[in-house]
Amino acid sequence: MAESMKGLKRTHRCTEVSNKNVGETVTVMGWVQKSRNKGGIIFVDLRDRSGILQVIFEEANVGATGFEKAEKLRSEFVAAITGTVSKREGAVNENLATGDIEIIAKDIRILSESETPPFPIEENSKTKEELRLKYRYLDLRRPDLQSNLIMRSKVTTLTRAFLADEGFIEIETPTLCKSTPEGARDYLVPSRVHPGNFYALPQSPQIYKQLLMCSGYDRYFQIARCYRDEDLRADRQPEFTQIDMELSFVDVDDVIDVNERLLAKLFKEVIGVDIALPIQRMTYREAMERFGSDKPDLRFGMELKDITDIVRNCEFGVFKGAVDAGGSVRGINAKGQGAMPRKKIDALVDFVKGYGAKGLAYIAIGEDNTIKSSFAKFMKDEEMDAIIKAMEGEAGDLLLFAADKTKLVYDVLGALRLEIAENLGLLDKNEYRFVWITEFPLLEWNEDLNRYQAMHHPFTMPMEEDLPYIDSDPGRVRAKAYDIVLNGTELGGGSVRIHQNDVQEKMFEALGFDKETAYDQFGFLLNAFKYGVPPHAGLAYGLDRLIMLMAKEDSIRDVIAFPKVKDASCLMSDAPNVVDPKQLEELGVAIATAQQ
Ligand code: AMO
Ligand code: AMP
Repeated sequence: MAESMKGLKRTHRCTEVSNKNVGETVTVMGWVQKSRNKGGIIFVDLRDRSGILQVIFEEANVGATGFEKAEKLRSEFVAAITGTVSKREGAVNENLATGDIEIIAKDIRILSESETPPFPIEENSKTKEELRLKYRYLDLRRPDLQSNLIMRSKVTTLTRAFLADEGFIEIETPTLCKSTPEGARDYLVPSRVHPGNFYALPQSPQIYKQLLMCSGYDRYFQIARCYRDEDLRADRQPEFTQIDMELSFVDVDDVIDVNERLLAKLFKEVIGVDIALPIQRMTYREAMERFGSDKPDLRFGMELKDITDIVRNCEFGVFKGAVDAGGSVRGINAKGQGAMPRKKIDALVDFVKGYGAKGLAYIAIGEDNTIKSSFAKFMKDEEMDAIIKAMEGEAGDLLLFAADKTKLVYDVLGALRLEIAENLGLLDKNEYRFVWITEFPLLEWNEDLNRYQAMHHPFTMPMEEDLPYIDSDPGRVRAKAYDIVLNGTELGGGSVRIHQNDVQEKMFEALGFDKETAYDQFGFLLNAFKYGVPPHAGLAYGLDRLIMLMAKEDSIRDVIAFPKVKDASCLMSDAPNVVDPKQLEELGVAIATAQQ
């Protein structure tokens, strides 16, 4: 039977006991990691969130009842143990923080028993993620997940302190909001009081934080939960957390400055990494041309090269066709990969097809400078030479080319570059390469909607020098928007906001909104702006992504206590679930589609 805590007090966490306590009596409490019964002596590894401590039970010290209890201990039993700290008699265990000491038990209480857990509670678990997520409360006992969540707590604590020092005020904003269709899909919450009406869960506190600037709070921040109903990936969850901020009377450089110092402090204090300031900046255009991505991973080279001009008049239909259609031909040089077997090259071709490429052309340069190529037969020798020269191809290199619309070529080669780097093990998780991407396009053309969409959001300020083109050539206008990118992941993004009504109206026009629609959706913001609005700007980080990179994990699921899986369900609680028809009736909601 489980015993109580009556009259008992913990004196130390497991690894707070050290060789400085030798001779003292301590009381520790935790879970049994393992227990080995060697006849008259039982060795128990006791675990709590601090780590593991070895306890030794002998009848002479713990008494007959105590020894009997110790004999019952199994993995994950919860026990309170009082004993004397002693220097280890056997070999010192270098793997444990408490490896040079042990506790000689004098008393024990079994606080709780445990069934055999469905998987061992251990670091670097080999257990399938589905099973671990079903029993997430057990998975969360594992030291690696515990250290991730502890790191997360350190980051938010330090962030709060830093931002408070910089004059930011923490303010909570609603999570039952008005649905504004721009952006990702909303999660909707039906209103009982207003049947047929819905709240939306916030995709971000964007509008509220701008209103707070109108209200004179000057500098706001929030560690804000956000909800987006979009396809999930390793770095996307339906609900996630932002470190969100907004500042008044500032421009791009002010936002960047305070955020660089925040990042430097977090990386130094939490993981001991020095970030050299200022962080490199790169325009969107340069990032796309050199890396095929607006979130370039700068830990390795393999930059894109444009060979459009060389192949413009060649006989190879694939290249010429793409150029004639207004696209381009670009390539990357996978250095030293010239001997890549055909099968592996075919796998790369399949990979790029997943990104919409029609194919992947290549030149493999042998160590003896002989050339194998999928398109050499169509080319003149001078053309091949010019391509190889432009690609800085040398003996032993593999040159890979994509020809298509330029946007697709960027996507394909940007992804291919990462795939090859990953395959070759070029991505060192101990290296942190930050870059600010600036001067994003203000708008992007949406083929499906047949209209422009805001690349960041509709309140993003155009660059002053591009304002004259907002009517005549909106696609050319750059925005005062910036993203902070780390090792190929978009950590955060933000912008200077529009605070002038005439610019905002032009922006809505470019987005194809008439005044009425704009007011219907964003009226409270637009009205607020009529009463004196300071110029303002802000930024939001994906906290989960930040911790994922700091903790060197591959997925944000590993830094979120109770994450969802790919289909946005929770394997532990089975959310979302079917609800009682009465609940639906009360809400005035009927289910139209047949339930499976
Ligand atoms: P944005 O949409 O770029 O900007 O979001 C900011 C950051 O939030 C993170 N993020 C996500 N993390 C996990 N799962 C998701 N589904 C997810 N979606 C986004 C990313 C991203 O960089 N209001 C603006 C910020 C501003 O302009 O101030 C905004 O939300 O790391
Ligand atoms: P094909 O003429 O279709 O046999 O293609 C000849 C070579 O060009 C093959 O290696 C294809 O993979 C490659 N290829 C086809 N389409 C493209 C494209 N859009 N960009 C780059 N290479 C391509």
